[in-house]
Amino acid sequence: MAEAQRISTGIEELDEALEGGIPQGSWVVATGEPGVGKSILCMHFAYAGLKAGDPVVYVTTEQEFKDVIAQAKQLGMDFSKYPTYSLGWRREPEELPQIVVVDIFGLLKVARQLTEKAKEAEGARRYAALSVDTLIEAIDEAYKVLEVVEEERGSPTRHVRLVIDSMSAFWVDKPVMARKYSYQLKIATHRDNVTALLTSQYAPTTRQAYGFGLEHIADGVIHMWMDDVETTKEVRRHLIIKKMRMTNHARNAFDVEIEPGKGLVLRPTRSS
Ligand SMILES: Nc1ncnc2c1ncn2[C@@H]1O[C@H](COP(=O)(O)OP(=O)(O)OP(=O)(O)O)[C@@H](O)[C@H]1O
Ligand SMILES: [Mg+2]
Repeated sequence: MAEAQRISTGIEELDEALEGGIPQGSWVVATGEPGVGKSILCMHFAYAGLKAGDPVVYVTTEQEFKDVIAQAKQLGMDFSKYPTYSLGWRREPEELPQIVVVDIFGLLKVARQLTEKAKEAEGARRYAALSVDTLIEAIDEAYKVLEVVEEERGSPTRHVRLVIDSMSAFWVDKPVMARKYSYQLKIATHRDNVTALLTSQYAPTTRQAYGFGLEHIADGVIHMWMDDVETTKEVRRHLIIKKMRMTNHARNAFDVEIEPGKGLVLRPTRSS
């Protein structure tokens, strides 16, 4: 079998720890409690894609994309250099975008379209913005805008990066459905030509994921955490690669700093 093509995470030390990057076509989950750097990891991954010439689909349920751009800029990543289109916009794209953003407005619009379509068909149904069906349709829509698919629900004809920040939003009111939804999404989006980074939130108190499932079916898990701030009296972040298919990855943890102009900076952990 051919060696897997490696896809850069945008963070040098992390790529090294992954034998060059994430194997192309993987579905990777970044897990962790609030403020550990999951969204910033997504920005690095997307930005590395833009620099490499990959089309990018960026789903953000947490922030409006303009806030993602502003945050990224502080950390040395200038997304405004690349043609962007948001699915929530009323106007058609003026040029072929390299990154298509799906924020909550985009999801609402797609949910409305799906609800309208269902009215015309026999089984009337209301689609919620934060439902996996809506998400899958929105991703397909984004592929069309990027001109990387030739047919409805087709596989991309070239390599695409997919970011979903965060998945937890899709089962926040029904965590028992997490596993089913994760499977549904994986079946719909897992392709040789799609390298995906998804985030999943952990409850800081119990260290449990909101819902369960994503980590089991993912090809890779990057876990991020913080030492107990009441004990250390400062924010100390860490990252570890828990799994990555086809990769003899580093097994040690890293200390993580978030530095202005640079973003995530990883160093071998101090405590070992
Ligand atoms: N310009 C900056 N310089 C240094 N650190 C920053 C800067 N901007 C943000 N940070 C740090 O990054 C943290 C946010 O990281 P991020 O948004 O990636 O967390 P997250 O894991 O996505 O959290 P959540 O689960 O709440 O979405 C902030 O709390 C702050 O500590
Ligand atoms: Mg976040």
